[in-house]
Amino acid sequence: MEPRERIILALDVDSERKALELVEKLADSVGAFKVGMQLYNMCGPQIVERIQKLGGRVFVDLKFHDIPNTVAAAARVMTRLNCFMFNVHAAGGREMMTAAVEAVQDEINRLKSEPPLILAVTVLTSISQQQLETDMFITSKTVEQTVIAWAQMAKECGLNGVVCSPKEIAPIRGACGPDFTIVTPGIRPRWSEANDQKRITTPGEALSLGADYLVIGRPITAAANPREAAQRIINEMEDQ
Ligand code: C5P
Repeated sequence: MEPRERIILALDVDSERKALELVEKLADSVGAFKVGMQLYNMCGPQIVERIQKLGGRVFVDLKFHDIPNTVAAAARVMTRLNCFMFNVHAAGGREMMTAAVEAVQDEINRLKSEPPLILAVTVLTSISQQQLETDMFITSKTVEQTVIAWAQMAKECGLNGVVCSPKEIAPIRGACGPDFTIVTPGIRPRWSEANDQKRITTPGEALSLGADYLVIGRPITAAANPREAAQRIINEMEDQ
């Protein structure tokens, strides 16, 4: 894979116009665009098709978590949208994750299309050890042990990979092997601002830890020249 293809640009903007302007500027500088709850809920599924028309692949970041039948139905929608990736919460359990995998398989058999990658979200990075114990009642495992156990469970259910923080890349790679896709946000080149990200990693470090895809937003979208910022990141990845 070329370094460019490993960059997933986070489209964290509040209008379709702003999103599509970024896609027009950056479609040949990055590998995919991430559409989250804000943009998807505001614009509807046609935002995915509009990005695709401009030549971009789409990671639909809606983190499904519901009963198996409902998540399976959402997985069918994602497959029909021809998205590149979508994600579900591992906390939804084995039956839910297996239902998503089977629904995608069933839909691509029918459509003869490419399957999207299904990624698991494990413990959100906003959850502390204390919250894991007091709010989620998980007391027998640390955050890191829970992350690893859920990543392994996702793999056993047939999911393609996980979204995780940079500090979880190496243990997940160790536990889940070389073919498991690892997508990581919290990426900051040395020359860019940290913004609200607390534990940051450079693009090169994330790759050498074993990440496959890097979710990058503001270092590119807030730059005076986003294409130049993307190219600078690609150059750094090539030098790695
Ligand atoms: O602008 P920035 O590079 O910080 O954007 C990172 C993107 O990755 C945002 O869309 C953010 O919601 C997402 N993300 C994150 N940290 C996580 C999970 C997702 O920054 N733990």
